[in-house]
Amino acid sequence: MDMSNLNTTHQFDVIIVGSGGAGLSLALSLPQHFKIAVLAKSTLTEASTFYAQGGVAAVLDETDSIEQHIDDTMIAGAHLCEMDAVKQTVEGGKPSVDFLLRQGVQFTLDEQEQLHLTREGGHSQRRIIHAADATGRAISTTLVQRVQEQQNITIFENFIAIDLITSQKLGLNESNRTLGLYALDEKTQKVHSFLAPFTALACGGAMKAYLYTSNPDIATGDGMAMAYRAGCRVANMEFNQFHPTCLYHPQARSFLITEAMRGEGAYLRLPDGERFMLRFDERAELAPRDIVARAIDYEIKRLGIRHVWLDITHKPAEFVKEHFPTLYARLLELGIDITTDMIPVVPAAHYTCGGVMVDEHSQTDIAGLYAIGETSYTGLHGANRMASNSLLECFVYGMVAAKHIEAHYTADYSSPDVPAWDDSQVTNPDEDVVILQNWDELRATMWNYVGIVRTTKRLERALHRIEMLKREITEYYQDYQVSKNLIELRNLVLVSEMIVRCAMQRKESRGLHFTLDYPELAPELRKTVLIPPNFQVETPLVNE
Ligand code: FAD
Ligand code: SIN
Repeated sequence: MDMSNLNTTHQFDVIIVGSGGAGLSLALSLPQHFKIAVLAKSTLTEASTFYAQGGVAAVLDETDSIEQHIDDTMIAGAHLCEMDAVKQTVEGGKPSVDFLLRQGVQFTLDEQEQLHLTREGGHSQRRIIHAADATGRAISTTLVQRVQEQQNITIFENFIAIDLITSQKLGLNESNRTLGLYALDEKTQKVHSFLAPFTALACGGAMKAYLYTSNPDIATGDGMAMAYRAGCRVANMEFNQFHPTCLYHPQARSFLITEAMRGEGAYLRLPDGERFMLRFDERAELAPRDIVARAIDYEIKRLGIRHVWLDITHKPAEFVKEHFPTLYARLLELGIDITTDMIPVVPAAHYTCGGVMVDEHSQTDIAGLYAIGETSYTGLHGANRMASNSLLECFVYGMVAAKHIEAHYTADYSSPDVPAWDDSQVTNPDEDVVILQNWDELRATMWNYVGIVRTTKRLERALHRIEMLKREITEYYQDYQVSKNLIELRNLVLVSEMIVRCAMQRKESRGLHFTLDYPELAPELRKTVLIPPNFQVETPLVNE
């Protein structure tokens, strides 16, 4: 046995891949006598959660109701949301807010010292709690601090999970269950084995598949790809949300302008000043995101312009600065004073509505394997996620996963023998340029052919290119030592293929999937499901 592997094998009760809202709410909801590992492929805060601006949706006001939040979610999701998941999530709103307050998250208060509620697209009520315009930062830094205080949680920053270890993969004669995973320590470039009876994939979304995105670099669909390779089904991958308002500026990559700005009265305008959303939907700037993003895309193409304008200059300067202090300061640095200047904006890929299929306990098709947050498909979002429902879903499903793990924990678990990572057959890569070229090609293909408006021909072209890229990347992966770039690209090409395959299955235009070849709604409501070749039928998933 290679002695250098001895200190690269770790045994835990629960392995959590991801330190965003989903991963950390699970970590903090598990019993404190559990030995927990939290892996993050960068620093703990480098996650979409940290960058969230708008807030967390929850029914808190007495004029609001669970029924209204459910209705709004169903309408925004073009009625493809699964009612059980919607109900479970919406009912989990108040407990989630209580959880966050218990951890010490400081939200913005109103004059009566109550939680201030803002509004976003699709919501018929003010129901978004927030920390000014930097809600994610307040949540992320607080949860990270709590996790760092807990002795039973070991943090592995800059560890990149590569693949799950399952009983099926080891050829054990039993139904498929998770045994842990392999992860690359980026600092030492060694691959470690993490073993545990329970693993949760809380790896966030996959919108780095697109050339222009609001997402941080970590969003490469690793959780979805790892789960699929291990034998889990994924669903509704065609529904990629394009956020209508990302800053259009050469010096500011991936910079979101929160929907709450439209919620507080900002208008979208064309270069001639027209408030064009009134032509597209009676809810104007507060129509659901798919409608607003498509309208902007249409106007940009129709007029041959590079962006449209977001205008909040008609509101008092003090109001603007108080509600959007972070955006005000950041845009001022770029020479835009939002109290007097309009903001140039374009849509960008923002959120992955589909993901790894889970039941109401966040459990996947593989026993002991959970998926939470943006990585998962719970059924909540349907064909289009409503603003600020995503963070809510992270907390609700993080907490239910914790309960399920606790109920199924046995103290006498012993891990079977798992072979250490074998890299004896691979060499050091000679040309990193191959990886970079493939990254660029993949992301441009997705942007150009699988974007806001699709056609069957464009999807076929995309699939053709993706299949070629996948072959090349797989060969590269088999021949050369793994690196972060290669792991991510291998995952992203698989997830891109899933997106296209789901999109080709959907012969209608619904929510975020709009195709010129099938512009109408189909009569039946169905999710698109991809079943991996190694899927085992006798599975724990129950919500179908
Ligand atoms: P993330 O927060 O993205 O965390 C993913 C974690 O997984 C990271 O720690 C990452 O390092 C880790 N990871 C990934 N792959 C690996 C791997 N292979 N190995 C190890 N670790 C890995 N939603 C709302 O509800 N309200 C908002 O106001 C809002 N605003 C948003 C603003 C922006 C700019 C963006 C990008 C998104 C916003 N969203 C918002 C969406 C929401 O923030 C995300 O959906 C949510 O934060 C996802 O949380 P998560 O825990 O699932 O994933
Ligand atoms: C935003 O603040 O506009 C993002 C909200 C979200 O994605 O839910």
